[in-house]
Amino acid sequence: MEKLKKQWWKKAVVYEIYPKSFYDSDGDGLGDLRGIIRKLDYLEELGVNVLWLCPVYKSPMADNGYDVADYYQVDPSYGTNEDLEELIGEAGKRGIRIVMDMVVNHCSDEHEWFQRALKDPEGRYGKYFYIRKGADGGPPNNWRSVFGGSAWEPVPGTPYYYLHTFTKKQADLNWENRELREEIYKMMNWWMDRGVAGFRLDAITYLKKKDGLPSFAPDGEDGLVTCSYGSLNCEGIREILRELRDRTYGPRCALAVGEAPGVAPEDALEYISLEDGLFSMIFEFAEWEIALKGPDNFWYDERDWTQEDVKREIFNSHRAVGEKGWYGVFLENHDQSRSIDHYLPEEGRNYYGASMLAAVYMFRRGTPFLYQGEEIGMRGVRWPSIGDYDDCSSHNQYELARRKGLSHEEAMECIYKYSRDNARTPFQWEDAPNGGFTSGRPWLRVNENYTEINARGQRQDPDSLYHWYQKLIRLRLCSEYSDILTDGSFVPLYEDVRNLLAYERSYQGRRVQVFCNYQREECRIRTAEDLRLMADNYGDIRKEGDVLTLRAFEALIAEAE
Ligand code: NOJ
Repeated sequence: MEKLKKQWWKKAVVYEIYPKSFYDSDGDGLGDLRGIIRKLDYLEELGVNVLWLCPVYKSPMADNGYDVADYYQVDPSYGTNEDLEELIGEAGKRGIRIVMDMVVNHCSDEHEWFQRALKDPEGRYGKYFYIRKGADGGPPNNWRSVFGGSAWEPVPGTPYYYLHTFTKKQADLNWENRELREEIYKMMNWWMDRGVAGFRLDAITYLKKKDGLPSFAPDGEDGLVTCSYGSLNCEGIREILRELRDRTYGPRCALAVGEAPGVAPEDALEYISLEDGLFSMIFEFAEWEIALKGPDNFWYDERDWTQEDVKREIFNSHRAVGEKGWYGVFLENHDQSRSIDHYLPEEGRNYYGASMLAAVYMFRRGTPFLYQGEEIGMRGVRWPSIGDYDDCSSHNQYELARRKGLSHEEAMECIYKYSRDNARTPFQWEDAPNGGFTSGRPWLRVNENYTEINARGQRQDPDSLYHWYQKLIRLRLCSEYSDILTDGSFVPLYEDVRNLLAYERSYQGRRVQVFCNYQREECRIRTAEDLRLMADNYGDIRKEGDVLTLRAFEALIAEAE
């Protein structure tokens, strides 16, 4: 019981909000906190009980808020600190907790710390960052930033450069510096004092850099090398993360979900053990990562992959941690394409496919994360010119593709597949101008399909994807099956049957089985179990004797008796 209280986040379904695109309450074309407050009833009706807000701190928005200029202030475009307090209070009345995005690998070059560092690179604030003298007339080493180009930017008028793993507007913070660490701990505790229930920790496995910041053999035609060799999951990272935990979210039993690229499944337990993990959970990224190769996930460098690869990755990562660990499971977020476009073949991009995908992750062992708009089946966009896109990584990837020799059309195909703007178009609330997102001019174009895909229409239709999500969330959080679906073990079923993803959750003698038929063709399997229907996207079970038939993109959730 005591443990359950401490690990309250096991009984959570998290809904990720990209505030800029959620709902605009004042007509300036940008989503805001009061917009979220107005939509709390919608979220309560859907049934989620935690909201993760992408960064709302003061920011010049070079990377839409992942470049924080003041950790203690809400950006005026989103509202005020009082609005945030009101959101926390109003959400609380509906049983919903608020988790903030915490971006502490880097801060904005407009943050006061960095401004002071520029004035005195060797001084107190200079030591908050990685500021080094250049070598041989160039930067201190040959690392490539995640968003392209050298990871070093000159400090004007000096022989110095500063390190930025992401854009040059995002200067890396120096976690070797005790004073910096203390500043961060103080700030995170300050937010928890204000009622924040936890954090999504951005790029958290980048905090430790390799001693000496060495160059490595180049891995690209630009003569640079992915910065991940020197900055991702480097030796010593765990000590830093342990201290971060012990000084902030750990003692308060807050939810801490790590965006932790680079953690191999065999190392995952140290990060997410339910006994003494560094976080409550980390995101289970494996199924997304199979699509892209190349050291920096070049979008033109796609791997051939099938649903069987996705299945293998899912089962492998769960096997690696078994019942000792806990993942954040998801298919969509603000950095990835819409799941319908990415995971389904053309013929499955409809209600059946989308509802099946929901069952692929909603009942896995871990906390499910939905991304705004996923519950109504929002889709990606195809805009003609790269100039139509806001996302900084889309611009970089377009340039890379063109330099590689791809034509404009070919390069744009990469953008259509992977642009982060696919997930960032404004939420489609209703069949009204701009999808009802704003009465003004939206900061990013609304997907034209809002006339067919919108929340109002789906709420009125009992057979919609929205209602399917609502049903699954209820099963997970507040039904007689909740304990099984939370604490039950996770065992793959029928692993060798092609295009079938099936698993069993079992707890105290009761078992729930989930079957997802990932294809247009019917799939027949033999099972001696009596299956008691919990949910099915076709509405019924087709079973004759021992033969269970799964129809095109069918999802069946049933208790095995
Ligand atoms: C990961 C975030 O999800 C992404 O949106 C951001 O660009 C990088 N971290 C840098 O903060």
